[in-house]
Amino acid sequence: MNANHSPIPATLIPGDGIGPEIVESVVTILDALGAPFKWDRQIAGMAAVNDHLDPLPDPTLESIRKTGLALKGPLTTPVGGGFRSINVRLREEFKLYANVRPASTLMPGGRYEDVDIVLIRENLEGLYVGFDHYIPIDNDPHGAAISSGVNTRAGSRRIARYAFDYAVKNNRKKITIVHKANILKALTGIFLETALEVAKDYGNQIQVEERIVDACAMQLVMNPSQFDVILTTNLFGDILSDEIAGLVGGLGLAPGANIGEHAAIFEAVHGSAPDIAGLGIANPMALLSAAAMMCDHVQRNDLGQRIRAAIHDVLVVDHIRSKDLGGNANTKEITQALLNRLQGNK
Ligand code: NAI
Ligand code: MG
Repeated sequence: MNANHSPIPATLIPGDGIGPEIVESVVTILDALGAPFKWDRQIAGMAAVNDHLDPLPDPTLESIRKTGLALKGPLTTPVGGGFRSINVRLREEFKLYANVRPASTLMPGGRYEDVDIVLIRENLEGLYVGFDHYIPIDNDPHGAAISSGVNTRAGSRRIARYAFDYAVKNNRKKITIVHKANILKALTGIFLETALEVAKDYGNQIQVEERIVDACAMQLVMNPSQFDVILTTNLFGDILSDEIAGLVGGLGLAPGANIGEHAAIFEAVHGSAPDIAGLGIANPMALLSAAAMMCDHVQRNDLGQRIRAAIHDVLVVDHIRSKDLGGNANTKEITQALLNRLQGNK
């Protein structure tokens, strides 16, 4: 490939828990590959709170505003009390309306041989809008809880358009619109209705079908290869994408991209894995796959393809696997195996 690509400024957030370990691995690999990113390291999450800063400090936001591009380690979100999810704040701040999560069978001999699904999730609306509170009853401050979701016509149209354009561009054949319009008639009905409307603009380029989310969850386990692109709302997408990750070897392999008009943030689907943080055994491949998506995003599909091929070879040819995939290689050994593949030492 042409060596005259100018450096592309990008924000790098190491994150919490296993974040710094896997980010270091991925940056080492990207550097060895000559990826064009010029990193601006910034903190967020517990790393910032421990420095007595806001969990999403201004310089971090400013950096992403400038670069429009970030690679992010997982961030710990306290459950219940504490601060609001930084991931959700980042999505809202930069209007990252599309969450794209591809998952395909990488290791033969698993439960399923031919899974190749891209889940596209609406990332800003639905039940994640934050209208969520307790109502005291008598002496119980948590006597009741209320949550309201909001889906808009404009938001549904924007994500549906993204999904159909994605399908056309990536040679996908079918989109399954997933909803619960039989029960949440307005909230997810507007999503279904709008997505079907958008579908009309794509004629018969893409086959379209719809599923109710619970049936879809079962069908994913029974016969996942029937699915191609899944288009769904925020909460259903959150749940189904973890399920789909589980079909193809678990969270240690699943990447995600959060895309907006002016910024894109790439990350692993998994969290900060506090149970194994600091042990040096985390699997860096999910974040590395996210970095491959980031390369595609900046029109360096050549690098994205090389990364995906190296991951495949390390898993399937070299049989080097981390603990979450049933192997015993640690983060350093996996990183070295990937470097060997990328540098042609194998
Ligand atoms: P988790 O994804 O961190 O961990 C679930 C299980 O998978 C654990 O047993 C963990 O050891 C394992 N695992 C995850 N990633 C792995 C990897 N790369 N290599 C090997 N094993 C791996 O989910 P959990 O425990 O529910 O959440 C922990 C924290 O992460 C929470 O504070 C949560 O809010 C946060 N989180 C952050 C996300 C983000 O920043 N995008 C996404 C999901 C959760
Ligand atoms: Mg999730």
